[in-house]
Amino acid sequence: MSLPNINPTTTKSWKALQSHFESIKDLKMKDMFAQDPNRANAFTIKWEDFYVDFSKNRITEETFELLLDLAEDVRLKEAINSYYAGEAINQTENRAVLHTALRSKETDKVFVDGENVIPEIYEVKAKIKDFTNQVVNGVRKGYTGKPFTDVVNIGIGGSDLGPAMVVDSLQYYKNHLTTHFVSNVDGDHVNEIIGRLDPETTLFVIVSKTFTTIETLSNANTIRSWFLEHTTKEDIAKHFVAVSTNVEKVKEFGIDEANIFPMWNWVGGRFSLWSAVGLTISLGIGYSNFESLLNGANKMDVHFKNAPLESNIPVVLALISIWYNNFFKSESEAIIAYSQYLNQFATYLQQGAMESNGKSIDRNGDVVNYETGTLIWGEPGTNAQHAFFQLIHQGTKLIPADFIGFATSLYGNQDHHDKLTSNYLAQTEALLNGKAQDEVHKELKNQNLSEKDIQALLPFKTFAGNKPTNSIFINKLTPESLGKLIAMYEHKIFVQGIVWNIFSYDQFGVELGKQLATTILGELDINTIANHDASTQNLLEFYKQLR
Ligand code: F6P
Repeated sequence: MSLPNINPTTTKSWKALQSHFESIKDLKMKDMFAQDPNRANAFTIKWEDFYVDFSKNRITEETFELLLDLAEDVRLKEAINSYYAGEAINQTENRAVLHTALRSKETDKVFVDGENVIPEIYEVKAKIKDFTNQVVNGVRKGYTGKPFTDVVNIGIGGSDLGPAMVVDSLQYYKNHLTTHFVSNVDGDHVNEIIGRLDPETTLFVIVSKTFTTIETLSNANTIRSWFLEHTTKEDIAKHFVAVSTNVEKVKEFGIDEANIFPMWNWVGGRFSLWSAVGLTISLGIGYSNFESLLNGANKMDVHFKNAPLESNIPVVLALISIWYNNFFKSESEAIIAYSQYLNQFATYLQQGAMESNGKSIDRNGDVVNYETGTLIWGEPGTNAQHAFFQLIHQGTKLIPADFIGFATSLYGNQDHHDKLTSNYLAQTEALLNGKAQDEVHKELKNQNLSEKDIQALLPFKTFAGNKPTNSIFINKLTPESLGKLIAMYEHKIFVQGIVWNIFSYDQFGVELGKQLATTILGELDINTIANHDASTQNLLEFYKQLR
């Protein structure tokens, strides 16, 4: 079985959306709200502790129905079933895509090549739990008999971004262990971190699905050399553990087999935080919080699998995103979380969305004749308001934005939280309504400006409005609600890939640069230089002279 293979632009619904777009593209959301008192309710999905209001979008009832027709036309439901059933939907790598299985219930059954993988998953979870408890409770000790105080996660891409984002987002739930993340091959990065560590009390978690990633291996080797300056080879077993599918390579590195946490090739790197790749999360916030994160994701998985398309949160968000990307020709989407804790959330999502859907070849092997993957970016509000909101409000580009907020703060400082939330709500309102010339006129007149000065200022102070936003309101930031939120975006990415008829689970686009870097690295100490373009050649010579 493989995924449906349908060019979305050939469907009846796509064609209908195209002509519908022409007739509604200039409509003002403000007017739609005025005409339909039920609009906000009709375009809101309430699910568990999530309140998702998508009414501030440039859609009508008809747009919504046509988008749902599009989902039917590309046979989305069938694709969702293939995804959950463990079919090899990562066709170009001949693999299943089963991060959902990692958060399944113990009683569930998920088959890969005829074998139920749930028992294996639960064995690894038990190992994560056991190891976490031993480290957190100080039962497991370093080479001088002291309990661990610090954990260093060494990995990059999916082996870094997910764990780093979750630990940072859930820092309120952290225990006494200090966590660090070494990712970049930039030696200054690893040296900065080493400078903060005591070898006697630091645990190193090397995370690499393939265990061939140059950045991770370079950092791991540098750290091991530093560690061996203080210790002996025998002590490595106490301080280094690895998460990988490549057991042989890990053993070659010198890690004890008992300290290897397995993962599987049916878990993509950027969707792997739910596996042992999340070991640093479990260590940093404790196993029961890690489990709550997984439970939250599982609840979203069940919702995504079973909810009708029109009240299915990831489906609706994906279709709206496609509406802007393919009809309004928006190029990017902003993620604005009104929580400083979610500081790394947009960065994390960049890999999830852009490594998955940054593709231009369809599932037939042909070049697509429509736009795919959106650019994802963002910063937490209110900081973002003081940085780039000017462009969203008054620039020339249409930038749909997801606003994420929490109804309660964690420390309970109501004064701050009210200010934060007022800004969240006010910004979506301002983006919707804008500010008309007559309003600006009135305001300036009240400030006693002359008519001449008012006329001169009027265009600059006017806001066109009609800027789309989704408001995602969640009761509270907890491990469980974060799990739901991450899974929501994972499934949104899946739906987009299905509609765009691309393969979302390979990442061949990251290979070419890696290969060329290896060639260039080999040329640094020799005189002959391969056939580079003149620009690269000059830059290489410049570097060779100065290094
Ligand atoms: O950047 C490409 C990539 O393959 C990502 O998909 C992955 O998350 C990352 O490299 C790290 O790979 P590994 O876990 O094998 O070291």
